[in-house]
Amino acid sequence: MKQATGYSGLQIGLHWLILILIGVNYFVSEGMEEAFDAHTEGAAVAFWPSSIHVYLGLAILALVLIRLIVRLVRGAPEVPVGTNSLLRVAGEWSHILLYALMIAVPVLGATAWYLGLELAAGTHVLMMNAMLILAGVHAAAALFHQFVLKDNLLDRMRRPG
Ligand code: HEM
Repeated sequence: MKQATGYSGLQIGLHWLILILIGVNYFVSEGMEEAFDAHTEGAAVAFWPSSIHVYLGLAILALVLIRLIVRLVRGAPEVPVGTNSLLRVAGEWSHILLYALMIAVPVLGATAWYLGLELAAGTHVLMMNAMLILAGVHAAAALFHQFVLKDNLLDRMRRPG
């Protein structure tokens, strides 16, 4: 994996844009269960936010794939000097897992919606909850770095380097 000196403007922009879009899509997911049932039964889906949820989910998937390609081509900065090895490994694996979940969640959602698969719908919700929990832990870890370890980690996702 390549070693960059910092995240690029594109990587930073995509990180925060995807965070906002995931938040919006979570917000409009209310009522999706009923919309999915109507959709699989071939009935008209009266619930308009379901369209936003589906298309925004596909847009998020496209953005995550672009972000992953940029990440593989450009790399990421080394963890701050002095970070203990346990935190370093936890950080690396949580990033890998977050990427995997950001891909799995919309893929499962699209599979459920377009192929009418009940199992994919259940797994989509389960993975979404796992992603939210992990994202919460990830955000808490970033704040821990910033305010307890005082290593300015947040700056890496604020200023291109
Ligand atoms: C308030 C919420 C968040 C904060 C404060 C935050 C902060 C950060 C920071 C500071 C980094 C850089 C870490 C480093 O340099 O080692 C980072 C990386 C990352 N964040 Fe977040 N993040 C937040 C939310 C999220 C969410 C919701 C997701 C996905 C669901 C996410 C996914 C990632 C991933 C995958 C990376 C690794 C980027 C890479 O190395 O390619 N983050 N985040």
